[in-house]
Amino acid sequence: NQDKFKQVIAHAKEYGYIFSSSEIYDGLSAVYDYGQNGVELKNNIKDYWWKSMTQLHQNIVGLDAAILMHPKTWKASGHVDAFNDPLIDNKDSKKRYRADVLVEDYVEKLEQKVQKEIKKAKKRFGDDFDEAQFVNTHPRVVKYRKRSKDILERLAKSLTDENLADVKALIEELEIACPATGSKNWTDVKQFNLMFGTKMGASSESASDLYLRPETAQGIFVNFSNVQKTGRMKIPFGIAQIGKAFRNEIVARQFIFRQREFEQMEMQFFVKPGEELKWFEYWKDQRQAWHDSLGLDKENYRFHDHDKLAHYANAATDIEFDFPFGFKELEGIHSRTDFDLKAHEELSGKKLQFYDHEDGKSYTPYVIETSIGLDRMFLAVFSAALQDETLDDGSSRTVLKLPSILAPVKVAVLPLLKRDGLPEIAEQIVEDLKWDFNVIYDEKDAVGRRYRRQDAAGTPFCVTVDHDSKTDNSVTIRYRDSMTQKRVKISELKSILEAELSY
Ligand code: GAP
Repeated sequence: NQDKFKQVIAHAKEYGYIFSSSEIYDGLSAVYDYGQNGVELKNNIKDYWWKSMTQLHQNIVGLDAAILMHPKTWKASGHVDAFNDPLIDNKDSKKRYRADVLVEDYVEKLEQKVQKEIKKAKKRFGDDFDEAQFVNTHPRVVKYRKRSKDILERLAKSLTDENLADVKALIEELEIACPATGSKNWTDVKQFNLMFGTKMGASSESASDLYLRPETAQGIFVNFSNVQKTGRMKIPFGIAQIGKAFRNEIVARQFIFRQREFEQMEMQFFVKPGEELKWFEYWKDQRQAWHDSLGLDKENYRFHDHDKLAHYANAATDIEFDFPFGFKELEGIHSRTDFDLKAHEELSGKKLQFYDHEDGKSYTPYVIETSIGLDRMFLAVFSAALQDETLDDGSSRTVLKLPSILAPVKVAVLPLLKRDGLPEIAEQIVEDLKWDFNVIYDEKDAVGRRYRRQDAAGTPFCVTVDHDSKTDNSVTIRYRDSMTQKRVKISELKSILEAELSY
């Protein structure tokens, strides 16, 4: 839904959530800054994840590893050799594209034709329409779906076999044109490594080549023994980490969904070999429960189990979210076997094992990983929360129904008028609440407009001070989502808000 997506981007800017990076210089492609409200929402998501990992699980501890790591790390992890995207240039427009994405976009267009046929038929047959039967029998739809399947299978096979000439042949056969100019004059397909390189050291001779980490996970693997020994951790146990990662993405569209600098929240759970699939199921359930606990509509989520697995994995699933541009990966849960620890043992010559006192034996643990993009979670929460509502009186409002626990500002305190001692009472309430909640004071404009402003900014509660407050020591608390209002004692505000905002 393009309109919704545009609204999300505009609203995120207007209310101080997200700006383009270095905007005064026309921005930097696929890099974004989080504004005054964005940073609070982001911190609250981090906190919600961090506590669910390290506070609610006695056997999970945290880590904050450096972004810069020894270059051998990326050799061992496979990123130097295999963290590539297949690229193709258009000879006329000189524009560069991901070859696989060009093919996927072509298939997407076929699917749009299918959806059009379904819509047409729905209109024609009304209540009698059986969609499943229709897509299985309608000749054009069957043809489009079969063609899509064949194309995607051929693409997947060519990429797995590293047969890049065939990827180019496919693009030529499908007569895919440069999206910018329509030219069909393509170069060969080449692999392009997504890691950002940098240099460490002052003089050009002694400087060594480093990479900005493309995932946070490797910082956890190389610290496995440090944490296990100093924390006296017993298998099974986990290490959680939140931090920046960098990828030189070629297809940099979809706002903060695919960025070149982003944040990951990853947890590696170390288990006994043979028990990994049990723990894989456990973490699938745990992660779904975490998402559920935020109260976002369940319909927004679906699991997508991988049929084709990466060489190091023996099970993998994506948690997909219904973003404004459709269902896309939000989080990955992977059973990574002992691939990473073994690879680091081999290249470093150091043992990365666990000594099991009960068996009297050492072994290399297996790993279940949960990995969620913080920025993607931000986009999921933000886009699901943004709603246009028509009210009973026929007027409309734009409201950002963020889960209260994640909202940047929890309470806006509003004196009804700028006089008669009302601001003083409101300011005192701010003073009292600010130690426990992120509170703001707002006295500008009529109170109705101030409510709308807080609705659109995502503030779950407004507290209004009026003339009666001076005698009854009470205020009106207004709820963002229901717009209901309740008279409460000023002295009870803190405990009411605490109850509303508890985990
Ligand atoms: N350690 C495993 C790993 O990095 P991944 O599927 O490549 O796996 C994990 O990335 C998560 O990181 C994704 O599910 C996504 O949420 C997020 N992510 C990956 N690339 C991203 C990008 N360019 N921009 C924003 N988030 C990204």
